Amino acid sequence: MELFIDTANLKEIEEFSKTPFIKGVTTNPSLIAKEGKSQSEIIETISTLIDGPISAEVTAEDEEGMLLQARKLHQIKPENIVIKLPMTTAGLSVCKKLHDEHIPTNVTLCFSLSQALLAFESHATYVSPFLGRLDDNGWDSAKLIEEIVKVKKNYGYETKIICASIRSVSHVETCALLGADIATVPYKVLKKLISHPLTDSGLVAFEKDSAKTKNV
Ligand code: G3P
Repeated sequence: MELFIDTANLKEIEEFSKTPFIKGVTTNPSLIAKEGKSQSEIIETISTLIDGPISAEVTAEDEEGMLLQARKLHQIKPENIVIKLPMTTAGLSVCKKLHDEHIPTNVTLCFSLSQALLAFESHATYVSPFLGRLDDNGWDSAKLIEEIVKVKKNYGYETKIICASIRSVSHVETCALLGADIATVPYKVLKKLISHPLTDSGLVAFEKDSAKTKNV
């Protein structure tokens, strides 16, 4: 399973761009708004930090507006920019139109199997089911991921599943166990992926004992 970072914060992206395991970036209007810069300025800088898929979300609600924003955003760096579209009739229609123009898409705000099916059938490059918001509202996010993975396999859809709205290490591990293609992980959770108390204590013990050994 690939890992993306879910943030528009340039410092967080720069830190993880130096690791071998972060392969892309996802943003959304709320994450962009936190940074106090224009979307195109942030996306342009991100494209200098990560050579992988970078999701930039349209904010228009009508097809014409979405297409205009999508083409402008994609031009920032055509080889990396992915256009994030809402799970709406207009969003899915634009998804197919961008597919025909060979512009990659990421259909977001997916909360059900039927929505994921529509994204598959609209030739989305990626579909983003939101785990944390489902769990926050009493739904079973793991069940949804399991179902989406099954339907993808049933029909051989090429759309990649990006598990989003990740709240914990357990979410990441569950997505991997269920066969999702990608998890897009916020900075704070990424920092937790590598840590374990027994690793920490083991390193301390090895360091202490290695001090006793004469270096060759
Ligand atoms: O970026 C899409 C998704 O990851 C948002 O997550 O934490 O706002 O539910 P969250």
